[in-house]
Amino acid sequence: MTTATYQSRRGELQTYFDRTAAEAWARLTSDAPVSGIRATVRAGRDRMRATLLGCLPGDLRGARILDAGCGTGALSVEAARRGASVTAIDLSPTLVNLARERTPRDLGAGRIDFRVGDMMDSKLGTFDYVVAMDSLIHYRAADMARVVAAFGARARAGIVFTFAPRTPLLTAMHTVGRLFPRADRAPAIEPVGERAITRRLLAEPALAGWNIGTSARITSGFYMSHALELVRG
Ligand SMILES: C[S@@+](CC[C@H](N)C(=O)[O-])C[C@H]1O[C@@H](n2cnc3c(N)ncnc32)[C@H](O)[C@@H]1O
Repeated sequence: MTTATYQSRRGELQTYFDRTAAEAWARLTSDAPVSGIRATVRAGRDRMRATLLGCLPGDLRGARILDAGCGTGALSVEAARRGASVTAIDLSPTLVNLARERTPRDLGAGRIDFRVGDMMDSKLGTFDYVVAMDSLIHYRAADMARVVAAFGARARAGIVFTFAPRTPLLTAMHTVGRLFPRADRAPAIEPVGERAITRRLLAEPALAGWNIGTSARITSGFYMSHALELVRG
């Protein structure tokens, strides 16, 4: 069950990632040269992807993974290279097409099933692990907690996602971001404190029996994001 705030933000994100920012996002996630600030963001995102994948077993043969909000698919490819069977879903058909084009032909034992749609779609089935890298940062904390709780009902072993931490530096960066023309702006990021989101998650009935695992913040130039792992037991 999704809320009106979730649905309206989802609509804004689809427009933003599928049209407004699709080209910039394609470049940022490629090997093409980018400006200094973007290079720091790219480096931070590479570290974050490694942090999230570091929460999963090294050998993923036989494991089913949901890459929730897969974008151009880099995390899915790395998980599949380790043998996982990945369902990679994103709202943006443009980014999913690009992800398909970028996927190497030979993934060994791994495979990726790319889908266009909502990560909350229960028809996607169940998974061993659900990973959501920077795809929940634009949702209000209450909606983010509900999405993670829904993952809890579908994941057997682990959930790893990121949130935008509420810090003075991030607040300042967002203020600077608001100086850019409206047309170029992303839908607002919704920062949340680590303690606040942890409290919300542990209060979700669907997350009873889950505990907090790894908690790690990555800061690199204009990129700041916090990884949180939930594990069963
Ligand atoms: C900041 S990008 C990150 C993409 C990718 N995870 C990465 O780290 O490269 C956020 C992505 O989440 C996707 N997204 C946001 N809400 C979604 C939803 N409800 N269902 C599926 N995808 C969603 C957006 O379309 C966008 O591609």
